[in-house]
Amino acid sequence: IYKAVILVGGPSRGTRFRPLSLNVPKPLFPIAGHPIIWHHLDALSKVEGLKEVLLIGFYEDSVFQRFIDDAARDFPQIYVRYLREYQSLGTAGGLYHFRDEIQKNDPRQIFVLNADVACSFPLNDMVKFHNTHRGLCTILGTKVAREVANRFGCLVEKSENHEVLHYVEKPESFISNLISCGIYLFDCAIFGEMKKAMQNKTNRVDQDQFQVEDDKLRLEQDILRPLAESSKLFVYETTDAWIQIKTPSSAVPANALFLEQYQKTNPDRLLKNVSGGPTVVGLVYKHPSASVDPSAKIGPNVTIGPRAVIGKGVRIKDSIILDNAEIKNNGCVLYSIIGWDSKIGNWSRVEGTPTTDHSTTVTQNGVKIQSISILAKEVTVKDEIIIRNCIVLPNKELKTSCHNEVLM
Ligand code: GDD
Ligand code: GTP
Repeated sequence: IYKAVILVGGPSRGTRFRPLSLNVPKPLFPIAGHPIIWHHLDALSKVEGLKEVLLIGFYEDSVFQRFIDDAARDFPQIYVRYLREYQSLGTAGGLYHFRDEIQKNDPRQIFVLNADVACSFPLNDMVKFHNTHRGLCTILGTKVAREVANRFGCLVEKSENHEVLHYVEKPESFISNLISCGIYLFDCAIFGEMKKAMQNKTNRVDQDQFQVEDDKLRLEQDILRPLAESSKLFVYETTDAWIQIKTPSSAVPANALFLEQYQKTNPDRLLKNVSGGPTVVGLVYKHPSASVDPSAKIGPNVTIGPRAVIGKGVRIKDSIILDNAEIKNNGCVLYSIIGWDSKIGNWSRVEGTPTTDHSTTVTQNGVKIQSISILAKEVTVKDEIIIRNCIVLPNKELKTSCHNEVLM
């Protein structure tokens, strides 16, 4: 059997995801119609023999209760539980703290997934690859542009067998453009390595009066790096799209990526062109309870959430419309996120600018601007107004047009 852990973090994290994380913890923010980590479960549900998923983090216990109930309905074969760290223990501290729970029932291998990534999750391919080498860990890798590589864990591999020769977390200077996707498959023997790492840490504290003892353990520096040094880390490279979800802007390309996933695995989840229905361009997800006027033109890469109302002649592309939002007649929404209960007036436009890979701001005339327009919860945009490249905090009413601003 297999098990999986999703590292969900806690309330002190995900701050870059404001203002959207003001209303919902980042791992539960809906993308392509479902909470981010629902997509992780969707992928894990396709691994044969995987029956249990542990969410590990330091949010309050109640935070994930509804998600867990919904998951039981959508993925009845998987038992999902939340395990709470008593404080932030770092990316490996929670794994170590709950090691007995994780190893219960003797799983053959354990997946560990960062909550804030979107990709095709080629988990079965990782299993196949893992069984061809003698390492303790297979890490999912992908190649990114040279300029952004040092924002991630960087890997240098031996090309013949994909053994990781060097692992460096967010290096100062360029090392490699092959990076860690934050998705791992471990043998249970990893807990032995964690124990060693904990002991090394305690020894360092004993020897150095300036070191303070804490229970934190970092998966990247404390575990993966030594694993690479002892030839026990291997990389499975994917050429499928992969993106990290740190800022609200990254939710828009992540939405496109998850919709593409639907097209590959469950095309019936996508909205189709039917006579008497709206014009659908490319990939669109519409919640069954949303209403879209037949004269609207929607897509590509659009999600329309529960109870949203889309009026006559509306144009939406590359955007996420959240629960109960309303886009009134002839409104236009491009490269934007429209928050819960927000209202866009007649003939008004909300637009952003497309981003390039792994970047959430764009430079226009030498000035850095917010690429995606984001309206938080309960924002009202009056009729005939243009909002371009703005972030709007909750409960604002906009009566005049704005560009390149954060509206508080
Ligand atoms: N349970 C728990 N406890 N989870 C945590 C903690 C913690 O104390 N700290 C972080 N996490 C979770 C986050 O919620 C996220 O899912 C994941 O661990 C990694 O978060 P960060 O520590 O912020 O690292 P990062 O996202 O900047 O970089 C990591 O992911 C990249 C891929 O997205 C690293 O693993 C990089 O090497 C990797 O390239
Ligand atoms: P396609 O190639 O078929 O998508 O048409 P297009 O390139 O002419 O434009 P698209 O349909 O992609 O729509 C984007 C553009 O729609 C925006 O840049 C606007 O100029 C225009 N638009 C603006 N407001 C509205 C509106 O209220 N309704 C519609 N339908 N379009 C609008």
